[in-house]
Amino acid sequence: MLKRTRATQRFDENLNVLDERLNAPPKIREDQSGLRNVMNRVDTEITVQVDGLRREFDSKEGKVTALDGVNLQVRKGEIFGVLGPNGAGKTTMIRILSTLLLPTSGKAGVMGFDVEKEPEKIRAVINMASGAERAGYDFISARGNLWFFSQLYGIPSEQAHKRINELSDMLGLQNYLDRKFYALSTGYKQRVTLVRAFINDPKVVFLDEPTIGLDVMTALSIREYILKQAKEYGRTILIATHNMAEVDAICNRVAIIDKGKILACDTPAALKRSLGAPSLVLEVSPPPAPGTLEPLGKLDGVKGYTSAVDEERGLSRIQVVVDGDGSAQSVLDSVRKSGMTVVSNWRQQATLEEVFVALVGRGFREREHEASQ
Ligand SMILES: Nc1ncnc2c1ncn2[C@@H]1O[C@H](COP(=O)(O)OP(=O)(O)OP(=O)(O)O)[C@@H](O)[C@H]1O
Ligand SMILES: [Mg+2]
Repeated sequence: MLKRTRATQRFDENLNVLDERLNAPPKIREDQSGLRNVMNRVDTEITVQVDGLRREFDSKEGKVTALDGVNLQVRKGEIFGVLGPNGAGKTTMIRILSTLLLPTSGKAGVMGFDVEKEPEKIRAVINMASGAERAGYDFISARGNLWFFSQLYGIPSEQAHKRINELSDMLGLQNYLDRKFYALSTGYKQRVTLVRAFINDPKVVFLDEPTIGLDVMTALSIREYILKQAKEYGRTILIATHNMAEVDAICNRVAIIDKGKILACDTPAALKRSLGAPSLVLEVSPPPAPGTLEPLGKLDGVKGYTSAVDEERGLSRIQVVVDGDGSAQSVLDSVRKSGMTVVSNWRQQATLEEVFVALVGRGFREREHEASQ
């Protein structure tokens, strides 16, 4: 527990440093405005630029619009989160930026190169990894796998081995490098994938759900490694995730995406602050039947809600984004009137989940449920 607290503190400290560098205006006197412009340009070097990006797919049910006019700018050294529910378009965006897929229309560029016109120049300066894929040859050791990938980039052998050791050290992988890939646990396989993602000293790294399915401690050490890669080596890291805690812990900025559109883009703190009033959380029993909660969304001052059943305790937890005390009271009245027992209720500072709820009226769970129907 102590270890975890320390790690968390270190995240905060690191984030503060990053925030300072990215967000603090350069300290230049007013009478040196020429210099200010030059400094600004250096401080805000854009490494990923996306303009009006659109991607459609043909499917059995007809045309699917995965990205619907996305605009983004990511700066050097930034850890940028793309947060959205299943099917929002996150992986499609990463595939386009890492030159695995072409846009239908619009523009996307990395380090000043265009994904359509100069894909090979982009490939030389980026890397990409997905948490869903376990990339590695089973009957080769972890070290052998990493060496193989390093050779695809033409890294001299000695240098490659040095780099494998250094990166593995940062992730606590050293003692596992000589095990066959198949014999590694999920967490260690994922660590290998994350060493591979940085093997070529990339300027920009795209990570698709880097900690999906991992235990808390493994996820923490991977996040710490990602932070270090951005902070100490100035790499730009774009992370697609549906994990709000991950975004809160390590992202300088986050774009919230739903149905192929960016709904908001700012620092996690600014997005949470934008909600103003604390949210209302209720635990009700018995869990409400489908549709019972819908009237809540129509109450004055209610921006949206999300709910989840806690089967162990036989109740439902409802998070409601309200604009103040009055609307919180009318939510409580309405729930009681509908026959549910309010077991407990409290107000809490908004989380990124509630930011999404305020933007869409629904949470990730409801959004994903809607999409699957
Ligand atoms: N090759 C494809 N053919 C047809 N439809 C596709 C294809 N790839 C993606 N889509 C559709 O495009 C939309 C966006 O998919 P995408 O994988 O980018 O979402 P995502 O945000 O990464 O979701 P998840 O959180 O589930 O990974 C979805 O509706 C998906 O079904
Ligand atoms: Mg995806």
